[in-house]
Amino acid sequence: MKVLVTGTAGFIGSHLAERLLAEGHDVVGVDAFTEYYDRRLKERNLEALVTHPNFQIVEGDLAVIDLAGLLDGCEIVFHLAAQPGVRASWGNDFHLYLERNLWATQRLLEAVRDRPLHKFVFASSSSVYGNAERYPTVETDVPQPISPYGVSKLAGERLCLAYASSYGVPVVALRYFTVYGPRQRPDMAFSRFIAALSEGQEIMIYGDGKQTRDFTYVSDAVAATVAAGFEDVSNDVVNVGGGSRVTVLDVLALLREITEQELSVRFVETQRGDVRDTGADIMRARDVIGYNPRVSLSEGLFRQIEFSRASNAAPALPTSVPRD
Ligand SMILES: NC(=O)c1ccc[n+]([C@@H]2O[C@H](COP(=O)([O-])OP(=O)(O)OC[C@H]3O[C@@H](n4cnc5c(N)ncnc54)[C@H](O)[C@@H]3O)[C@@H](O)[C@H]2O)c1
Repeated sequence: MKVLVTGTAGFIGSHLAERLLAEGHDVVGVDAFTEYYDRRLKERNLEALVTHPNFQIVEGDLAVIDLAGLLDGCEIVFHLAAQPGVRASWGNDFHLYLERNLWATQRLLEAVRDRPLHKFVFASSSSVYGNAERYPTVETDVPQPISPYGVSKLAGERLCLAYASSYGVPVVALRYFTVYGPRQRPDMAFSRFIAALSEGQEIMIYGDGKQTRDFTYVSDAVAATVAAGFEDVSNDVVNVGGGSRVTVLDVLALLREITEQELSVRFVETQRGDVRDTGADIMRARDVIGYNPRVSLSEGLFRQIEFSRASNAAPALPTSVPRD
């Protein structure tokens, strides 16, 4: 099958594209290489993809480019492109969240609405829940986002469902819970912790470290995404969590155990928009897409540390990717 992966040069999108190619599909990737983090990291994310004969990368902004050509022959759209980050979503940059999370999504939905599409998978987020009604949180619990980012993801999700009900676009929105693993975005906690450790710097923790998170290893998130694309499910919203909930202090203890290094930790003020806890009820994912997270936190964190060590030892980052 020919599929489109938006945000292919990003953390999750690049893993997803690799998996789809390995399963024999033709993958068209699109990415704007936004400035949210270093372009060279995104180019490195594409290293294993660009030489594959069944992969094509288009550099372009979904809020601007012609989408008809991009979608030509594609039967599934995996829409992962977005402006991520809770903390950066306050203030003057909110327009980026509108353009990249809503406007780009609306353009894609308009472009697919009259096409015989097999599936439109939207990357949503646990951030839509805010400080949730209960833990583990069920998809039917009332979403109450407390950050502009969470609001933008909820709006994107609702927009997809509006096109599902009015135009029959076969939509599945996946609410990812803190995804981690090799190539994780540099602004995310594990990446920051590992970088600080390797540079002999203090690890900065927002809040008291007792906040809990449901961490999802990237290959599990990808497995759920592929299943959402191919399984017989639509007009649905599904949690994708790692299956267990731990405190940030537990993560630090694990980091100490794996690296056998002493950690120097500095606690700073909780950031606006950061929720206290997240925890996914994954029964729905088990039922509708056969989801079963396989990678434990200790194994996943070990792999991310190993990846980071290998990258630090690797030659300088490449400077360009082939363009269309
Ligand atoms: N990483 C997580 O823990 C997590 C958790 C919840 C939800 N999500 C969602 O999953 C998706 C992927 O997240 P990620 O962590 O891989 O982020 P990422 O920033 O690594 O990847 C997103 C990619 O989208 C591209 N992009 C942004 N706007 C674009 C546009 N208008 N046109 C084309 N490309 C554009 C960026 O250049 C980037 O490469 C996002 O939708 C994010 O909101 C991620």
